[in-house]
Amino acid sequence: MMWKRIPGIKKFFGSLVLFCVSSNLLLLLYYPPKIFDNPCPLVVSWKKSQWSQYTRDGLPKSINCSFIYNRNHSSNIPSYKWCYRRDTITDYHYSKLASNCSMFLKHRNYNRHQVTSKEKKFPLAFSILMHTNVEQMERMLHAIYRPHNVYCIHVDAKSASSIHTAVQAIVKCLPNVFVASRVIPVHWAEFSVLEAEIICLEDLWKYKYWKYYINLAGTEFPLKTNLELVQVLKAYKGGNEIDGSPSHRPTAWTQYSWKREYWRTNTLKSPPPHGFTIAKGSTHIVASREFIDFALHDRKALDLINWMKDIRCPDEHFFQTLNINSHLGVPGAYTGNPDLRDGFYVRYKIWKSPGTMCHGKWVDFICVLGAGDLHKAVISKQFFLNKLNLDMDPIAYQCLEQWYNDRVQKGRNPDFDIGFYMSRKLVNNHI
Ligand SMILES: *[C@@H]1O[C@H](CO)[C@@H](O)[C@H](O)[C@H]1NC(C)=O
Ligand SMILES: *[C@@H]1O[C@H](CO)[C@@H](O)[C@H](O)[C@H]1NC(C)=O
Ligand SMILES: *[C@@H]1O[C@H](CO)[C@@H](O)[C@H](O)[C@H]1NC(C)=O
Repeated sequence: MMWKRIPGIKKFFGSLVLFCVSSNLLLLLYYPPKIFDNPCPLVVSWKKSQWSQYTRDGLPKSINCSFIYNRNHSSNIPSYKWCYRRDTITDYHYSKLASNCSMFLKHRNYNRHQVTSKEKKFPLAFSILMHTNVEQMERMLHAIYRPHNVYCIHVDAKSASSIHTAVQAIVKCLPNVFVASRVIPVHWAEFSVLEAEIICLEDLWKYKYWKYYINLAGTEFPLKTNLELVQVLKAYKGGNEIDGSPSHRPTAWTQYSWKREYWRTNTLKSPPPHGFTIAKGSTHIVASREFIDFALHDRKALDLINWMKDIRCPDEHFFQTLNINSHLGVPGAYTGNPDLRDGFYVRYKIWKSPGTMCHGKWVDFICVLGAGDLHKAVISKQFFLNKLNLDMDPIAYQCLEQWYNDRVQKGRNPDFDIGFYMSRKLVNNHI
């Protein structure tokens, strides 16, 4: 080979590599992440010389969050990925910080919550399915965390051990947050997605006090405060907000037996048990405790789960089917025409369609939101948004956090229209 014949070149590259590695090590030693003396939120800059350009929240001073989320941006405002490098909080840092709980709670400011008696009397249960990015999950948890609610986190068994360790460390510091009693490898479109959620639900069920259940993924963020969620869910009077249509759905997904995400066999399935009418809808649900009781314990529901083990995307069919079969006595099930619903307010999502703007990035027909999309999201009626990527647009994420914290602080927000939710069809059209 060519380079072998030139004397010294190997040595040159060798010392170049050594130089790069050692100079980085020196930098690491000189500027260790400042996580332990930096107040919440967790933003660390390794470039000390640039500190003065950042606000206390770790945002570049030139960024005005209220400008970003208060304005309808018709032109593209850029994703800030390239002009603002924030340092991520690694799994290792989380493990280390949370190994001392008083330090973790103090630095992440978990003791800040003022909870009204109305909220205390109406606890919520959450499941969070995650597989990556502990920091993003923890920042979402930090937003939705209230001491009287209960939270189950399922970490994909396939995820790196550092992720498991970090999440375990975090939950040890929060008495009402736990990791699922069993974790499984989760594969999209397969039964394991529903199974992971059911493991969490069975764990959550042991806590007798909660009234409603909400499922989340690690890449979401609340658009309504806990108080607002409680107000809406009380107004639903036991009704579930679960999307699902029996007629507008890919029927092959449930007609045939499926092996993997894209592997449809030619084996036709038997008809569903107990005469269930099958529906498909969004995997995101908000359901009453009574509904979850039925889903976990009723014979008909258990037979349905069993039947769904080899369909495509059971997580988009199971709760959705239960909720339209009111004749089987499913608590909170919808009694109106499921094809003539008045919208779905559990998630804010931008689906790709001609002329639709996404200031972030289209990924699989869904917009991963950018800073320019925040305005529409924060004025929407939806409960949570999906999806945001901390690494892609850290400014969007942080501005949304700022918006949310302001909203929690204010307590009552005049733009929150409870009448809208009280007049939803599901309120008067459920068991
Ligand atoms: C941020 O933008 C808002 C307009 O949305 C403006 O009222 C406010 O003065 C700006 N703040 C700063 C510090 O420039
Ligand atoms: C934002 O602006 C676009 C056009 O510039 C308009 O079509 C849309 O209705 C506006 N949205 C809101 C929420 O004001
Ligand atoms: C935990 O951190 C606190 C400071 O927040 C310190 O006073 C305490 O000694 C630490 N505990 C342990 C066990 O290291």
